[in-house]
Amino acid sequence: MADYILAIDQGTTSSRAIIFDKAGSIISTGQLEHEQIFPQAGWVEHNATQIWDNTREVIGQALGKANLTRHDIAAVGITNQRETAVVWDKTTGRPVYNAIVWQDTRTQPIVDRLAADGGVERFKQQVGLPLATYFSGTKIVWILENVPGAREKAEAGDLLFGTTDSWVLWNLTGGVDGGVHATDVTNASRTMFMDLETLAWDDDILAAFGVPKSMLPEIKSSSEVYGHAHSSSLLREVPVAGILGDQQAATFGQAAFDAGESKNTYGTGNFLIFNTGEEIVHSKNGLLTTLGYKLGDAAPHYALEGSIAVTGSLIQWLRDNLGLFSSAPEVEALAKTVEDNGGAYFVPAFSGLFAPYWRPDARGALVGLTRYVNKGHIARAALEATAFQTREVLEAVNADSGVDLTELKVDGGMIANNTLMQFQADILGVPVVRPVVAETTALGAAYAAGLAVGFWSSLDELRANWQEDSRWEPSMDEAERDRQIRLWKKAVTKTFDWVD
Ligand code: G3P
Repeated sequence: MADYILAIDQGTTSSRAIIFDKAGSIISTGQLEHEQIFPQAGWVEHNATQIWDNTREVIGQALGKANLTRHDIAAVGITNQRETAVVWDKTTGRPVYNAIVWQDTRTQPIVDRLAADGGVERFKQQVGLPLATYFSGTKIVWILENVPGAREKAEAGDLLFGTTDSWVLWNLTGGVDGGVHATDVTNASRTMFMDLETLAWDDDILAAFGVPKSMLPEIKSSSEVYGHAHSSSLLREVPVAGILGDQQAATFGQAAFDAGESKNTYGTGNFLIFNTGEEIVHSKNGLLTTLGYKLGDAAPHYALEGSIAVTGSLIQWLRDNLGLFSSAPEVEALAKTVEDNGGAYFVPAFSGLFAPYWRPDARGALVGLTRYVNKGHIARAALEATAFQTREVLEAVNADSGVDLTELKVDGGMIANNTLMQFQADILGVPVVRPVVAETTALGAAYAAGLAVGFWSSLDELRANWQEDSRWEPSMDEAERDRQIRLWKKAVTKTFDWVD
């Protein structure tokens, strides 16, 4: 058996290839950012062809840097930004429209139309999700209704839909030359079309949306051989054997395999996942019910999820739209020029508010301003927004599960920010813990692929790879914590009812 696993992490801002060894350590990485396209307020698109080109290139970078070839790679795992919808023509291999990104809110009228009969919770019992622009279903409908000729082609069976895992898998396994059109249960659970119990596409829901089933990928487990890399790929003949949506992959990479275990990822958005084991738990507090993972023929694991649309992307916005600094990590130095937020609270409801509010009518607000507030306070308020939003999601998880989480395992880009991590522990009142391998998303996809081909033999073996790197203990006194949370919640109410 070859010595390494290669994971492709097709994320919101970049595509990466990371090669891992058996201990779960990183051997090498390739990474390329792709363009963020904002054609109108509320619209967010990616060029799916650029994403695939970048994916091929980063595979080459990762192999090249470590002087490895396909013979060293035992399997490939794929993880991806979830919900982002690609629709392509299977005869040409070309997308019929840019990928519509998970943050995009253009489909609100389609959501409203579907919700007119039964409300936003119309399909929630079956699919675990409220009707919202976030999920892929309404994005497919938008493409079918707005791209000339798309509906006819889809009905003739010529168009395929996929989240970016399916898009990468189809291309990697040959594209027009016999590419495999499949997805895993975790990604399928983000469309609005998969029944949580049967793990199959639901014909009635598809009919309500007007989406032909022939467009949809086959739903597979998260860990099995889906196909092999095509002869045109640097990885030719290597089995592609793991797929997990990125948040589920991070949970898997954090070795949170059992009911009651959880993690919080700090990316462009924040996503807290709480494993509920083989039980489907319906939230009463604004969380989503989603698939956690499914290993081959074994029973699926479910999860509760608190999705926050804007956290790291608020820092990017301060950098790109306001020019407050030139690289995202500089936000910490700017925030440290002041002692506290100076009374400013920043609620980044740029895509409405996701968990636990689900308010599409909300828009961003910076409140509590006085003449005293400077850019340091704004940087601090932006960082604190991430921690406050996470606190609200954790409150919902505690309420739904009936048990209070005693610590929070974290990962993702923003955990390098000590100021944020300390404030997070302070505002939660529980310790925040970071693992040695912080690239848990790619690691989770590597684990899923490696388990499928026998590179790793059991979850216990993977659990042994998890090691603590650092821990932040809460140090804020309770009265101050309560005051901060009260002011934050008040700030949130100022964002409501903003869309006419
Ligand atoms: O649900 C959206 C999520 O999968 C995106 O994650 O890390 O690419 O921002 P990320």
